[in-house]
This record gives sequence, structure tokens and C-alpha cells, in this order.
Amino acid sequence: MANSVARRAIVTGASGGIGRAVATRLARDGFAVAVHYGGQQAKADEVAAGIKAAGGHAITARADVAKAEEVSALFQRALDEFGRLDVVVHCAAIMPLFRIVDADLESFDRVIATNLRGSFLVLKEAAQHVSDGGRIIAFSSSVIAKAFPTYGAYIASKAGVEGLVRVLANELKGRNITANVVAPGPVATDLFLAGKSEALIEALRKATPLERLGQPEDIASAVSFLAGPDGAWVNAQIFRVNGGFA
Ligand SMILES: NC(=O)c1ccc[n+]([C@@H]2O[C@H](COP(=O)([O-])OP(=O)(O)OC[C@H]3O[C@@H](n4cnc5c(N)ncnc54)[C@H](OP(=O)(O)O)[C@@H]3O)[C@@H](O)[C@H]2O)c1
Repeated sequence: MANSVARRAIVTGASGGIGRAVATRLARDGFAVAVHYGGQQAKADEVAAGIKAAGGHAITARADVAKAEEVSALFQRALDEFGRLDVVVHCAAIMPLFRIVDADLESFDRVIATNLRGSFLVLKEAAQHVSDGGRIIAFSSSVIAKAFPTYGAYIASKAGVEGLVRVLANELKGRNITANVVAPGPVATDLFLAGKSEALIEALRKATPLERLGQPEDIASAVSFLAGPDGAWVNAQIFRVNGGFA
């Protein structure tokens, strides 16, 4: 890879709504980007093609984030291609909604495996492989503060992510690596929109002081700040980027 690219990043879940915007924004900021996907290769290819068309550098890589060997292989692939890693942004997650009383254990286990175990595996690899001076950014959700019915498994998984990242920031002492969490409010992506009525979406839109849903680019801007020079002294924080949906 050309040495002119200063920084290298992995963005997980970059075939999804927010991850796509993050990957595209980091590429615009000058990063070479590993565009990770779970099942939707065509979407990841599209994101990488967009980055390349704009003059950037991107590769695509698949991994089930719940599987240790696949997460390991994802990092190895990025390292083989880029030679080093400066930033890891972990967006991949799922949000099936179900009431605790009716839940089948498989649904709960799947949310925890994907969102919490997946975050643990990605954070572990990031801690091993991100170069000194780098940045690690994981994703929670502002819905934690709401405790809405049906969000139990999702909120539990994201509360776990917030805990893990704050501990990791302490464990990284001495390496000048920051570890932070971005916790978006409602953002217009498949994860948020799927299964919701127009009326519910409208109610959630109106519930924020800014009276609009977030766009993926709103979240990418926050990630860009944390990953860039201006975010250097922000560490171990939960950055609630939510238009005031608190
Ligand atoms: N949208 C919101 O309103 C909102 C609010 C708060 C927090 N968040 C958080 O923001 C992050 C991004 O969400 P989004 O809205 O962009 O969701 P999205 O559009 O549904 O994208 C989800 C991404 O996660 C990947 N993924 C899911 N399960 C995976 C698995 N087992 N292994 C590997 N990849 C997997 C998907 O890959 P494939 O599609 O390729 O399978 C996709 O790239 C998530 O952590 C979410 O919890 C979102």
C-alpha cells in the first residue's frame, strides 16, 4: 500500500447505515479503511468502491463478530494489507426487540453473542493490534437511558459495551491509545426503522429537541472527531450523540 496514506482503520458493520457513513468519512479524513461486513458483501463492495472512486484506499473483509477466529482473521487481513492499524471503529450490532416475559433464550443469546461478545472480541483484537497513539471507538445507544419495553436484551448488551470500554481505557494506560463509546440517538438506518410504524417513527422524531432523526453522517462526524487530532484528550467517555434524545 502507498506510504502516502498516513493512517489505517477498521470499521466493523460498514455494510450498515452508520458504519458506511463512518467508513466513508474516515476515508475522506485520509484513512485507508477496511470495510467490514457480516452478510451483505454487495453493500460493503459498494462502500469500498465509493471510497476508491473518491481517490481513497479501501479493502473489504467479512467476519461474524461473534466468532473469535473470524474476528482474528479480520484483523490479520487488515494488518496484512495495511501493515499497521491506527483506529478501530466497532459498529456491527443487531437490535431484535422482544419483551422479557415472552423471550426465547435463543433470541437473548444471539443479541448478547453479537453485541457484547462481538464487542469483547473486537476490543481484544484492537487492544492487541492498534498502534500506540491510536484510537478505539465502540458503539452503545442513547436508548439505554429510556428503558423502553422490548429493548431489554439490546440495552443489556450495550450497557456491557459501555463497561468494557471504560475498563479497556484504563488497561491501555502507557500506550497513548484512547478508547471511547459513541451512543447515538435514533438514526434513520435499517436497524432503527425495521419493524416500526410510520406513527412510531414520527413520535420518536418529535421526541427530540431538534425534531429530526439523526442521519448516519451526524454520527460519522462524532467518530471523525474522536479518531482525529481534535479528539486526542477525550478518553474513556460515553459520547451521547443524539440531538438531545436523553
Ligand atoms: N440506528 C440507530 O438508531 C442506532 C441508535 C443507537 C445505536 N446504534 C448503534 O449503531 C451501530 C450501527 O447501527 P446501524 O444503525 O448502522 O445498523 P445497521 O444499518 O443495521 O447495520 C448493522 C451492521 O452490523 C453488521 N452485523 C450485524 N450482525 C453481525 C454479525 N454477527 N457479524 C458481523 N457483522 C454483523 C451488519 O452486517 P451485514 O448487514 O453485512 O450482515 C451491518 O453492517 C450499532 O452498534 C447500533 O447498535 C444505532
